[in-house]
Amino acid sequence: MQDILEQLEEKRAAARMGGGQKRIDAQHAKGKLTARERLEVLLDEGTFEEWDMFVEHRCTDFGMADQKIPGDGVVTGYGMINGRLVFVYSQDFTVYGGALSETHAEKICKIMDQAMKVGAPVIGLNDSGGARIQEGVASLGGYADVFQRNVMASGVVPQISLIMGPSAGGAVYSPALTDFIFMVKDSSYMFVTGPEVVKTVTHEEVSAEELGGAITHTTKSGVADMAFNNDVEALLMLRRLYNYLPLNNREKAPVRKSGDPTDRMDTSLDTLVPENPNKPYDMKELIVKTVDDGDFFELHWFWLAA
Ligand code: HXC
Repeated sequence: MQDILEQLEEKRAAARMGGGQKRIDAQHAKGKLTARERLEVLLDEGTFEEWDMFVEHRCTDFGMADQKIPGDGVVTGYGMINGRLVFVYSQDFTVYGGALSETHAEKICKIMDQAMKVGAPVIGLNDSGGARIQEGVASLGGYADVFQRNVMASGVVPQISLIMGPSAGGAVYSPALTDFIFMVKDSSYMFVTGPEVVKTVTHEEVSAEELGGAITHTTKSGVADMAFNNDVEALLMLRRLYNYLPLNNREKAPVRKSGDPTDRMDTSLDTLVPENPNKPYDMKELIVKTVDDGDFFELHWFWLAA
């Protein structure tokens, strides 16, 4: 029995290492956290229950039969954010660039199915080079299954995407179907096809940042709701956003105690809105002074900064 337990622990340790120390170091050198480190920041301490840690791909082409990494490039499971249930997947860029295989897709679908069943949100931490090239159409079939679940879950449970690296090719469709999209500046990209293909097809030269970086998607396309300076800031803001959301379409938004008296008077509001309707005023000041404890989570504020 002891042998079996030791073997199990070795297998777990191998899964935790993803694509190996060299690739983990490369991830850190880019200022990015690993898939597991991100889950540690996002979830309440000690609440993460991982599923399918030992799943491996089934591909035998291109020498892939001897290149199996337990977990197959995505960490999935459930945990808590401020004591509230959430289902999560976190793509591991150290394993084939987080590219989606058939089994990688099955892992994501499994947590999405369970989230819909119990009525809890789904958060995806995206860091992926798209379809696993070695698997071809099996990978594309996996995407179809994920997209279908995105559509089924829409309006049933909140779906949130945090883009924390490339989200290239097939990897960008699913996040684009979700309710909230956050990005990390300078290290995350969302595009259906990269700058090289754009150049070949249209002869247009465009940088990855211009094509699908955080600034482009928060100030021009409007695809993303918010952009943050680094992984930790983005994850902590996601924890904050979570506090405002109902867990599903049959629940009300959470209510929490406020020390702000219901009869609080703010005389500055008497003069904030000018009598002359042609004169502008600061709508944000009005909101902050009106809501409980001045607690306001603004989306798309980058539009103003642009
Ligand atoms: C398999 C992949 C991969 C992929 C990256 N890798 N993308 N493996 N399938 N799609 C592997 C690399 O071989 C490399 O392996 C490791 O991941 C890290 O990749 P790098 O290129 O070294 O990293 P970086 O320079 O940061 O560039 C990341 C990247 C680039 C921008 C994502 O890898 C890239 O352009 N990849 C291909 C993107 C792409 O064309 N995707 C579209 C697939 S088609 P090693 O062993 O060296 O560490 C598609 C259609 C879907 O998605 C349609 C759906 C309906």
